[in-house]
Amino acid sequence: MAGPTTEFWQERFEKMETGWDRGGASPQLLTWLDSGVLQPCRIVVPGCGRGWEVVELARSGFDVVGLDYTQAAVEQARARCEQEGVKAEIVQADVLSYAPAQPFDAVYEQTCMCALHPEHWVSYGRQLASWVRPGGSLFALFMQMVRTGATEEGLIQGPPYHCDINAMRALLPEASWVWLRPPYAKVPHPNLPSGHELAVHLVRR
Ligand SMILES: C[S@@+](CC[C@H](N)C(=O)[O-])C[C@H]1O[C@@H](n2cnc3c(N)ncnc32)[C@H](O)[C@@H]1O
Repeated sequence: MAGPTTEFWQERFEKMETGWDRGGASPQLLTWLDSGVLQPCRIVVPGCGRGWEVVELARSGFDVVGLDYTQAAVEQARARCEQEGVKAEIVQADVLSYAPAQPFDAVYEQTCMCALHPEHWVSYGRQLASWVRPGGSLFALFMQMVRTGATEEGLIQGPPYHCDINAMRALLPEASWVWLRPPYAKVPHPNLPSGHELAVHLVRR
């Protein structure tokens, strides 16, 4: 299987090499919550890591499922929920095969796409579409990390893999998702000065 494995991520957690982790919920999640565009509903957070966003959503009244296939992430997300006194379901599963019993109203996708080798993006795009009910939403933070190895030599570099907006449009096509017009909010990351995320809200047709 191309790209990182759960063992790769487990080692990152064990060695505390978790540069992606903000140590708190993303400011973009708070912006979406404050604006009212993201309202309490049944929501899934794929690749939830330590669960900061899961906790924030649960605290805000959402029915949340946090999804991650790495043991350390699952344990830490569960511990965080317990510590914060919030109720959320943390499921240990691969996002490429996870099949919920019922569809979700929304997905909060924060840098899970960029953790997957592009070889798996088509499958992941299909998964996202299958999880969300018609009229539901995908709140996505697409990692922007252009590297010269990619543009000059065609190397596939990551994680994080650069989530080019053209590729995102191809994976999540207009036939299945309503895209609002750009510009999209640019979300900086304190630990990744050479990259940023683009915050995009899509609606499932
Ligand atoms: C870059 S981290 C992002 C964590 C979290 N979303 C955040 O922003 O702090 C990627 C997470 O996705 C998880 N992950 C990667 N591939 C996965 C897969 N195929 N299925 C489930 N989880 C996966 C990893 O275990 C890791 O916790």
